[in-house]
Amino acid sequence: MTASTASPASPASPVVSRTLHGNVLVVGIDHPPVNALSVDVRRGLVEAIEAAQADPAVTAVLIVGAGRNFIAGADIREFGKPPLAPLLPTVCNRIEACPKLVVAAIHGAALGGGLEIALAAHYRLAVRGAKLGLPEVQLGLLPGAGGTQRTPRLIGAAAALDLMLSGRHARAEEALQLGLIDRLGATDDVLGEGLAYVRELLAAHAAVRPTRAASALSDAGVDAMRAAVEAARKETATRARGLFSPMKIIDAVEAAFTLPFDEGLALERRLFVECLESPQRAGLVHAFFAEREVAKAPETKAATPRAVATIGVVGGGTMGAGIAVAVLDAGLPVTMIERDDEALARGRAHVERVYDGLVAKGRIKTDAKAAALARFTGSTSYEALAQADLVIEAVFEDMAVKKAVFSELDRVCKRGAVLATNTSYLDIDEIAGATSRPADVIGLHFFSPANIMKLLEIVVPARVSADVVATAFELARQLRKVPVRAGACDGFIGNRLLAVYRTAADYLMEDGASPYQIDRAMREFGYPMGPYQVVDLAGGDIGWAARKRRAPTRDPRMRYVEIADRLCERGWFGQKTGRGFYRYEPGARTGAPDLEVEAIVEAERLRVGISARSFTDDEIVRRLMCAIINEAANVVREGIALRPLDVDITLIYGYGFPRYRGGPMKYADMLGLPTVLAELERLSQEDAFFWRPSPLIVKLVERGADFSSLNGTAS
Ligand code: CAA
Ligand code: NAI
Repeated sequence: MTASTASPASPASPVVSRTLHGNVLVVGIDHPPVNALSVDVRRGLVEAIEAAQADPAVTAVLIVGAGRNFIAGADIREFGKPPLAPLLPTVCNRIEACPKLVVAAIHGAALGGGLEIALAAHYRLAVRGAKLGLPEVQLGLLPGAGGTQRTPRLIGAAAALDLMLSGRHARAEEALQLGLIDRLGATDDVLGEGLAYVRELLAAHAAVRPTRAASALSDAGVDAMRAAVEAARKETATRARGLFSPMKIIDAVEAAFTLPFDEGLALERRLFVECLESPQRAGLVHAFFAEREVAKAPETKAATPRAVATIGVVGGGTMGAGIAVAVLDAGLPVTMIERDDEALARGRAHVERVYDGLVAKGRIKTDAKAAALARFTGSTSYEALAQADLVIEAVFEDMAVKKAVFSELDRVCKRGAVLATNTSYLDIDEIAGATSRPADVIGLHFFSPANIMKLLEIVVPARVSADVVATAFELARQLRKVPVRAGACDGFIGNRLLAVYRTAADYLMEDGASPYQIDRAMREFGYPMGPYQVVDLAGGDIGWAARKRRAPTRDPRMRYVEIADRLCERGWFGQKTGRGFYRYEPGARTGAPDLEVEAIVEAERLRVGISARSFTDDEIVRRLMCAIINEAANVVREGIALRPLDVDITLIYGYGFPRYRGGPMKYADMLGLPTVLAELERLSQEDAFFWRPSPLIVKLVERGADFSSLNGTAS
């Protein structure tokens, strides 16, 4: 705070300061890192309003945030703990009821409870760069401090529902247009702008203006409100399938039009508490903290990343092209290497096609495509990579081919260049062994489509140096990926878990469930697609090749289901061949169940002497989840994943695991590890090899602990 007339008003709370600027009391929230509304802040705000009210020298109050934000919202770490007074609705009501003028001056984030504080003030100003939003839905909640009642009064039902159901951030300019704020600051000096605005309001004798006093129907008529609510209900039923809080948000917003303000607030509170107590809130809050925690691998603290300004990509197929686009989109130049001119032309065309798709969908403009492609060059000669700071290899999944590529990279790349492989399964230590510099070799496992999918597994082989790992994390940040540190093993974290998930599904299918029932059960659980739909999408031939490769080393105790092989032998590889587990009309992406597939499944059961049992959808989910949880426990025990939360983020961001369930480890904790262990022990009577309980689960249950005890975080 800079104004020269400022004087401290009283020794206020450590996180909420009070400074008199003439007759304006500036209430400053200073609670790093983001001014979340912890109990001390709430208390400090109420005390400040009371002090302002009692002090005849004060004619108006200006609320501002210190640091980079106004207020980022409620303190998410307090959710699920016993509530401490004053609660946020009380704070907001107290602000609104202040008989002296209260103005909020917003910079940075004014989100959730932060925006609700501002909405309770009598006037709002924001400077450019401010982000205003009600993102509670992303945490399984609804705005619980009057947001559902005040926002529609200010901006109408349709706009309020849009903000609350999407959770998106509106910029200051849009907020002004919507009516969420009253004034856009001319400069970014939030305190100066705020004080000037307050003085202007005082000079104009502006009235104290509680938002609650506004009629909910002043801007939108009854019909428009009903139409907005009905449209939101309809859309939410399909788009937010399985989610608990969106419908509650709509109910609360509707109440802004059908109930008096205080009754609307009371309903909002009831619905908020229902959301707060829902397992979805626990899952989503866990995901919020976990996705921040994964970026803090030990190497990021221990080492400084190497500078990366130019990037090479070897291979211009599905992954190479997608990776190139991800890098170009981050504003970095890319040099692509292919085997010959023809393959290079295909690689470039691949990259262009990705951009054409984005242009066609209206996601980018034509000139953005041109600007990105201007950073792209291609070559058939490895010498073109001589100056690259980091090279990502994405050639065929074949050890001999990869080794040949890495020995070339070793020959041409400058000292200190990071050499990365996008291999899905191969031994990265062996690949590193093809170079004279294994300390520079790392795995960067992208997911398809690589320019869209958020997950990046950073695979750390034995001999890589810490600064190379730190460089990979920094690259992930630049590419806006969610990085997860994984140890080297067959399939790393994600594909290793995918393998047991598929195996457990195959066992169920051979034992009696149809692939269509299994897919349906997993969709109902929250996956966007069932496991067999995914096989059809990715191409059955890929898994078939992997199964053939592993056949010689497969443990003889492992039960092997041949149904998928029977389909592949017929050339049924899924969507691309028009048939797989489903039948596809030409060009269609959704398939129809296929009686012939069911006959093949039945024939296989007969061949191996299994008479079909029936399974409920619930049993299907339990088995598939137990398979993932058990293997994930082994992945953590072996140190392949640093913590259970790294597994959770891998499956949420790379494999469609429903975020609202928090990931498989959080889900296991919510089920209760003793329940999971009992189920595994029961299943191991059917197949002691596959269902052997992980020693980590056994140990945790003995200790009365759960996976969260290994996360080292508050969630
Ligand atoms: N409560 C507690 N901690 C929070 C927090 C919150 N609301 N928001 C952020 N943090 C923490 C983060 O966990 C992180 O901690 P670590 O450094 O220990 O990892 C730190 O603050 C910085 O956060 P980011 O790394 O996300 O920083 P950023 O600058 O990239 O983004 C932000 C800042 C836009 C504010 C972003 O943190 C954000 O979106 N926060 C959440 C906002 C939100 O969802 N608010 C609604 C809360 S629910 C609510 O308010 C309900 C209600 O009405 C009662
Ligand atoms: P692809 O077959 O689509 O592309 C491979 C490309 O590499 C081809 O364009 C080929 O011409 C080129 N190539 C082969 N040898 C080369 C050489 N010596 N020098 C230069 N270019 C060469 O394969 P895809 O799907 O892109 O896979 C590439 C890698 O990415 C594999 O290791 C795969 O396991 C991995 N991966 C694949 C995923 C997927 O969903 N397709 C997901 C994650 C990783």
